[in-house]
Amino acid sequence: MNRSRPHARGSAAAALLLVLVLTLLVAATVVAFAAHIFPAPAPITAAAILVDEQYARTLYVAGTVFVLAQLGLAFAVFRFRDRGKPVRFSRGSVPLEILWTSITLIVFVGLAVAGRKAWAIDRTTPPAPDAIQVEVTESQFVFTFRYPGPDGKFGRLDPRLVDAPAGNPLGLDPHDPNGKDDVVSATLTVPVNRPIELLLRSQDVVHNFDVRELRLQQDAVPGMMIPIHFTATKIGTYAIVCTQLCGLGHNKMNSALEVVPYEKYRALVEFSRLEPNVTPFSPNLTAFTPK
Ligand code: CUA
Repeated sequence: MNRSRPHARGSAAAALLLVLVLTLLVAATVVAFAAHIFPAPAPITAAAILVDEQYARTLYVAGTVFVLAQLGLAFAVFRFRDRGKPVRFSRGSVPLEILWTSITLIVFVGLAVAGRKAWAIDRTTPPAPDAIQVEVTESQFVFTFRYPGPDGKFGRLDPRLVDAPAGNPLGLDPHDPNGKDDVVSATLTVPVNRPIELLLRSQDVVHNFDVRELRLQQDAVPGMMIPIHFTATKIGTYAIVCTQLCGLGHNKMNSALEVVPYEKYRALVEFSRLEPNVTPFSPNLTAFTPK
């Protein structure tokens, strides 16, 4: 009720202003997305393309709902503005509540069903049997990658032997023959068009492994070995970043993913068998030499 000012003329100007602001905000948001002002880098795996397709589907559905809801709000703001008259109370409508709750349920379950493959392809399917394994160890604030070398076997790690200044950041056991040909690198080099399985570890706190072009983001958790897999189809250099706030150096924690032809990758893995004076493929590369 509005007994205090029975002759007030209502709030047409304020309502119109709010309608204008809402409409402008909606228009600016639609333009920002439609114009691709912040484009994602091109995907480099089949799975990443699926993720992009699902992202577009979700964006279209959520974007349509957003625009309709905001314009509906603008309409309600104007239609039901203060007209200087006593207000009418509405109890709502049960059939309408049931209708739009059902629509919301169907839309969200539908999106989840449509996106199940994009989500599951990297997480619930096992890697190809011939996938190349690379171990990824994260610590404050570096990535360290390890290849099993020509024998295909990772050497034993012992946390008590971890000594980065002495050249053994992972704690490789010098007495384990499997580790003698292991290759340790500060960057990740993988062959193009070959399935890769990464084994994520952390030496201290929770970190993350994220490559935007792979559309792949996975935490590395202390005490766990978390496998992820992908097949990169485009040669190039891509940024690897840590996306978990892991300490003061978090913002500088990054590395590079190099997708190279298979022969170049072979040269890297066999580096430890090459002559000592051969220039290593990557300047960051060191073969572990047991002392
Ligand atoms: Cu490691 Cu952030």
